[in-house]
Amino acid sequence: MSGFEAILEQYDSSRGLQFYQTIMGGGETSIHYGIYQDSDDIKTATENIMRFMAECIQRHTALSQSKVLDLGSGTGSAAHFLVKNYDCEVVCVNISPNQNKLNQQKAAELKILDSISIVNTSFDNLPDTWNEKFDIVWSEEAFCHGSDKLQIIRESKRVLKENGSLIFTDIMAGEGVSQTELDSFTSKNAVTQLARPSDYFKWCLDAGFKEITYFDLSHHLKTNFKMMIDRIDNNYSILVKSQVPENYLNEFKRDLHTRVNEMKDNKLSWGCFYTR
Ligand SMILES: C[S@@+](CC[C@H](N)C(=O)[O-])C[C@H]1O[C@@H](n2cnc3c(N)ncnc32)[C@H](O)[C@@H]1O
Repeated sequence: MSGFEAILEQYDSSRGLQFYQTIMGGGETSIHYGIYQDSDDIKTATENIMRFMAECIQRHTALSQSKVLDLGSGTGSAAHFLVKNYDCEVVCVNISPNQNKLNQQKAAELKILDSISIVNTSFDNLPDTWNEKFDIVWSEEAFCHGSDKLQIIRESKRVLKENGSLIFTDIMAGEGVSQTELDSFTSKNAVTQLARPSDYFKWCLDAGFKEITYFDLSHHLKTNFKMMIDRIDNNYSILVKSQVPENYLNEFKRDLHTRVNEMKDNKLSWGCFYTR
């Protein structure tokens, strides 16, 4: 299976669409990790990270009414959030056509279609006509799927206006952890290699960004994995009835338990980069 086919199988198959909406988004459109405070549920935690990112941008520049590019936009959670709360104009880039249809449908329900456009293309090869077009490039949990992450960051820089900013979250390897130690993650996800936070620092500098801030949010990962396990348990029969195979659910759950254990050794990290 090619890299793209594996990504479509993971997210855009009927199994993938059903699984990620139920398990990662808590029934909503988010397919990213969340920030947990007190007894937050998945829906609140996945909104918390978007609010965190928005506030981070707003400390430096106005987000309201800005032109945002969301790379690897899934079913549109960030786009809908940014349009509803900040009146942004958002262009979504995503290679998964069925996710893009769901994004469009949800945007229609929310009556925000005028502020959103969806482009089915790869984030490492953006249109030539997009030079210096955006105020903000935004991405959550998508760059991990790219085989050449420096190229994605270069493309982000190219399409940003002068003084624009790139903000992204990603699941990464812990510093000092070898790729073979991460097999249980990379073999189950359409990911060839996880970057380390230090790799992203270097790539952002190489691409020409001058100011780079990193917020390490790895301490939320364990809770994210545990919440996903609970969602699988609580929605098991519903998912099976909607044709998500039992062996897929059981294996995914086993992997999540492995990841919870691996967090003792900080094998994985998660965080947010803000670069200008
Ligand atoms: C974990 S999901 C995150 C979705 C969304 N950012 C969110 O937070 O809900 C990863 C997304 O990246 C997209 N993706 C993976 N590789 C891509 C590529 N080369 N170009 C564009 N999108 C890609 C997938 O289709 C999927 O929608």
